[in-house]
Amino acid sequence: MKKVEPAKATENVRHAIRDLVPIAEEVDASGKEITYLNIGDPIVYDFRTPEHLWEAINSDRRKCEGYANAIGSHDTRQAVADYANRMGAKNISNKDAIIFVGGSEAIILSLQALMNPGENILVPRPGYSVYNGELNYLGCEHNEYDLDEENEWQIDIETMRKSINEKTKGIVIINPNNPTGSVLTRKNLKETIDLAGEFDLPIFSDETYDQIIYDDAEFVSAASLSNDIPIISLGSISKTHLAPGFRGGWLYKQDPNGALDDYFAAIQKLCRLRLTNVAPTQAAIKAALNGPQDGVKEMVKKLQPRRDLTYKRLNEIEGLSCDKPKGAFYAFPKIDLPVKSDKEFVLSLLREKGVLVVYGSGFGQKEGTNHFRIVFLPPEETLNTAFDKIEEFIKENYS
Ligand SMILES: Cc1ncc(COP(=O)(O)O)c(C=O)c1O
Repeated sequence: MKKVEPAKATENVRHAIRDLVPIAEEVDASGKEITYLNIGDPIVYDFRTPEHLWEAINSDRRKCEGYANAIGSHDTRQAVADYANRMGAKNISNKDAIIFVGGSEAIILSLQALMNPGENILVPRPGYSVYNGELNYLGCEHNEYDLDEENEWQIDIETMRKSINEKTKGIVIINPNNPTGSVLTRKNLKETIDLAGEFDLPIFSDETYDQIIYDDAEFVSAASLSNDIPIISLGSISKTHLAPGFRGGWLYKQDPNGALDDYFAAIQKLCRLRLTNVAPTQAAIKAALNGPQDGVKEMVKKLQPRRDLTYKRLNEIEGLSCDKPKGAFYAFPKIDLPVKSDKEFVLSLLREKGVLVVYGSGFGQKEGTNHFRIVFLPPEETLNTAFDKIEEFIKENYS
């Protein structure tokens, strides 16, 4: 049989975090032990999904066995609306919320419902690769604005302003940010919302890591700061509720003037095309948002010393420097060494020392800069071993 050709549109779909896995498997097959610091999955390390999420599924098994409402069950959407209002959004009702198969599906379907080929949406540089991968698939431009490394990775409002053109459909912000772990200040977020208002653009605010915040950093939801600028906010139980396998994500809109009505209806249409939500996930999201929140607090408490260690060790290694992550569980050190590219650095580190991190260019970073993203979810012992190996690798190759 002749070779089956995949659709051309898939050619430029990249997701660096997953693209590295086959290479790691090759290294693994060669007998080298690998320390995986590439994927933000807490369950791979010493975290478990809170028991009450499982209990919620088990106590409603009958409902979990059938198809679920394609846009999410009424109660689950209400739980999201209540959560949004608790986080400072105004008058959100269950009609303003949609449930998805993880935050990733929310990103994919909401971009599909918005974007035509040739149009663009503003995305942060560096930022999360699913946005860029889907935009490539849709034949759209990811129109990047910079996060300023010299200013704790806050949004560089001027590059954002310069990037906006007549084909721009909206602004994506990721707060707290993956891959840098930065958290937008109230002032920076307000300036961004004001700029969106100036150009009549909606804001798509990815708040996946909203509860994972360190020290005195403050998470401020975009909806809480906006009056009439339309906000679409994304959330998920994957990280904050330690349940990435459950595949529960959502969007809610805050849109007092109805600018998003047709767009939201289009997203719902795409949800119906895939027939159903995951039924057990409806119960788990409700339990996560309405139930006890101790698990979230314990996770942050456990992560804090891992974040401190990561920050300290990375800055002690000659040739690396790193801003202190204020949220999420990622650090994004800069490589100040004569490397060909950060991809080459990351691949050599993997082959020589078995430490797997993700190259910064996979997150669309600024030209001429080299970084990598490291996940600080593992216990301190594992992290220390990884930092020792990174230090050795740099000494052996660059001193
Ligand atoms: C910024 C950001 N948004 C969305 C997601 C999607 O997460 P999930 O599909 O597991 O809900 C992730 C996952 O890593 C992320 O980092």
